[in-house]
Amino acid sequence: MSKATNITWHAATVSKIDRRVQNGHGSCVLWFTGLSGSGKSTIANSVSSELYRLGINEYVLDGDNVRHGLNRDLGFSDHDRTENIRRIGEVAKLFVDSGAVVTTAFISPFHSDREQVRDLFEKEEFIEVYVECSLDECERRDPKQLYLKARRGEIKDFTGINSPYEAPEHPEIIIRSDLLTVEEAVKQIFGYLQEKNII
Ligand code: ADX
Repeated sequence: MSKATNITWHAATVSKIDRRVQNGHGSCVLWFTGLSGSGKSTIANSVSSELYRLGINEYVLDGDNVRHGLNRDLGFSDHDRTENIRRIGEVAKLFVDSGAVVTTAFISPFHSDREQVRDLFEKEEFIEVYVECSLDECERRDPKQLYLKARRGEIKDFTGINSPYEAPEHPEIIIRSDLLTVEEAVKQIFGYLQEKNII
């Protein structure tokens, strides 16, 4: 792949700060990470609905959906997962610049990939949300029957079975999705956003 040359960064006329002032709220990324079946998409979508109800500019980027379009050229090798997360990090940055509260729901299994995304943002803009749920519980839920297929050897490189998941060491928020209801999880996340004066 050849890299573009002769390109110059063009400073935008309307800034992120201008948009935040007009919106009346801050912008950030709620970066959900966790095993498949841990509840990332469900909780991210509930957070999004509640933000929308309150008139807050929001958007959800979801792994399964983004892999149908922007990232449909990527699979589940370590290399492809790293590229998946790199691209989503850049897209999330555009959303934060646009003034939105963006939630991302990707397994994002590798610590170094998540840290690279964190480095794209100002400190208070990147909120890592670890959706913690044991492998046993995710496998018991198995909403898409993918663990079943992985155990049968029909899916290779499946996270938690034959591909690693590196849990965050210092996430801003830990959601115990094996203990909390979706409503309780949403409440916990809203508590954080309010405490930090983002909403
Ligand atoms: S990530 O590891 O690159 O962050 P991502 O969140 O985009 O993964 O996609 C995970 C989703 O793809 C899972 O929820 C599941 O539905 C599906 N999937 C298909 N194959 C795999 C696999 N080998 N490992 C994990 N998830 C898979």
